[in-house]
Amino acid sequence: MGDWNIQRYYCKSGQLLRVAEKKYIRYENLPLQTVGGRQAAVEFVSNVYMEGQHKVIQCNIRDIAGREEAKRSLKKRLSELEAIYTISSTLRTAETLDEMLRLLLGEILKVLNTTAGAICLYQPAIGKLSFSATQGWFSALDDSFLALGESIAGRVFASKKLLLSREYVKDSWVKYTDKMPAGWGGVCLPLQADADVVGTLFVSMPLPREINSEELKLLTSLTEMAGTAIHRIGLFEKNIYHLEQLHALRNIDMAISSSLDLRVTFRVILDEVTRLLKVDGAAILRLDPHTGMLKYEAWRGFRITNPAKHKLPIGEGLAGQAAMGRKTIRVASPGEIKRDPVQGPLMEKENAHIYYAVPLINKGRVEGVLEIFHRELLEASEEWLEFLETLAGQTAIAINNAEMIHDMANTNFKLIQAYDNTIKGWAHALDLRDKETEDHSQRVTAMTVNIAREMGMSEEELAHVRRGALLHDIGKMGVSDAILLKPGQLTDEEWVIMHNHPVHAFEMLSPIEYLRPALDIPYCHHEKWDGTGYPRGLKREEIPLAARIFAVVDVYDALTSDRPYRKAWTREEALKHIRQESDSHFDPQVVEMFFEEVK
Ligand code: C2E
Ligand code: SIN
Ligand code: SIN
Ligand code: FE
Ligand code: FE
Repeated sequence: MGDWNIQRYYCKSGQLLRVAEKKYIRYENLPLQTVGGRQAAVEFVSNVYMEGQHKVIQCNIRDIAGREEAKRSLKKRLSELEAIYTISSTLRTAETLDEMLRLLLGEILKVLNTTAGAICLYQPAIGKLSFSATQGWFSALDDSFLALGESIAGRVFASKKLLLSREYVKDSWVKYTDKMPAGWGGVCLPLQADADVVGTLFVSMPLPREINSEELKLLTSLTEMAGTAIHRIGLFEKNIYHLEQLHALRNIDMAISSSLDLRVTFRVILDEVTRLLKVDGAAILRLDPHTGMLKYEAWRGFRITNPAKHKLPIGEGLAGQAAMGRKTIRVASPGEIKRDPVQGPLMEKENAHIYYAVPLINKGRVEGVLEIFHRELLEASEEWLEFLETLAGQTAIAINNAEMIHDMANTNFKLIQAYDNTIKGWAHALDLRDKETEDHSQRVTAMTVNIAREMGMSEEELAHVRRGALLHDIGKMGVSDAILLKPGQLTDEEWVIMHNHPVHAFEMLSPIEYLRPALDIPYCHHEKWDGTGYPRGLKREEIPLAARIFAVVDVYDALTSDRPYRKAWTREEALKHIRQESDSHFDPQVVEMFFEEVK
């Protein structure tokens, strides 16, 4: 800029004339020619005034070329900014990468006022560039891939430098010229996020139009923005996926811990496997350690075949090899899958394009195989594989857990059987000591349980009743032979000791958790309905039902047996005694049930 002397300009005489006539003149943009012959645009301000006698014409002329340039560039920046703003706000509405690429490409082509273009993205899983979004004739390349360094996009990607072509079909390095119209060229730019190239952008236009330097500048800004946006949405999608993975693992954990039914857990696992790994089919095969056979236990997505009847020995077939080798097996072509003699026929019918068998290993033990297949090509990223293996780990844990619960239940069952046999042994020993007739305890137990069942007790309660009845006189272990086997009446002192036998039973059995619920009979079988029994003098319903029932059965059995202190009564005498004692010694309702039972 700067002020220039009028002497250095020529101007038409008419212009100066007008200067002389008017007092004040201002031209904002006056085309003049410099002395050197250069055309210039100037701002011209002149004023006329009197200085004493002299009329003075003062002219200020300023070259405004620089300012015009600045204005033009500002205008351009503004339109660039507008384009960037429009595009970035469009991008914000995109929820998936695909949608974003489509919008991005559309907007960029709109700004550049052309119809054909593409965005290529690098696919780390296959190490190639794919045509992820295309418009115009680029759609012909939708399913194409380019290696790094190959063709235009591959070169741009590898070099991180843009490449201009006047006409693609005439460029020697272009690969798919058969899919391109003649007369089209353009630019391919790297899409960069920080230092990483994520892909490339093609903007193409028909000759004679060629991309100019201003458009290139704009495109450079746009690709910077696009690269960042692609990077960001990639992270966003990854985050969502990670969240979904966490959800899935939590769902599976919940299924494992809340469901005793392994089939339910398997269903949850297969749901998550097919949903998150985006595969068509999945199955869980379980290894029977005794036979060494893998058997399909649960499956999903099998359309044609029913895997239920399929079994394979470990080491055979793809799944068998995975189990044997403890390694994931991947078969990525239908031809190769078909060749497997065991799973081949099944997978061929299912039209599997890709197949994975992952061994289910928990704590070093192979529990089975997780098998997945897909009917199309699958781009398996490292993350995908990792998640597949995590899911296989969860499946193995689920199986192991179920086995543990089963084993535990089994162990428990066996333990209980062992205890109950011990109790039977004790009961027998007690009978022998008491000089009871053989199997007195077994007899009274059977009868008590029958009546108790009739009176509505559950099987679980009956288990306690059974144990309690068998051990009813265990407290007599604290009574000496001299008293217990005494042929005659007991003295008062002897009765004190004899009356203590239920208390003794309580003291012996209550520390044993397993027998604590069985205490009712040993502790209360000498209580009487009218409250005159021992050891606590309980009355009526204060006496546990099991003990009320047992009391009737025990007295009946005692009366009809020989005792050291007397001979056995007849059945009729005994029954008459029971009837007489109803409502005094015995609960009348129980007596009724007893008569039903002995009928
Ligand atoms: P146990 O022999 O098993 O008798 C259980 C219960 O059956 C007795 O509880 C009693 O209610 C009834 N019972 C048994 N025998 C007779 C009987 O001859 N007449 C009548 N009315 N009821 C009978 P109890 O009376 O509390 O006796 C508890 C335990 O004390 C008896 O068990 C037995 O081992 C012992 N015992 C009872 N009486 C005598 C006795 O006179 N001599 C000896 N040596 N022991 C006795
Ligand atoms: C490119 O060169 O990157 C465009 C695809 C092609 O090779 O035709
Ligand atoms: C989700 O992962 O998207 C939601 C949780 C689920 O149901 O799996
Ligand atoms: Fe007793
Ligand atoms: Fe008895």
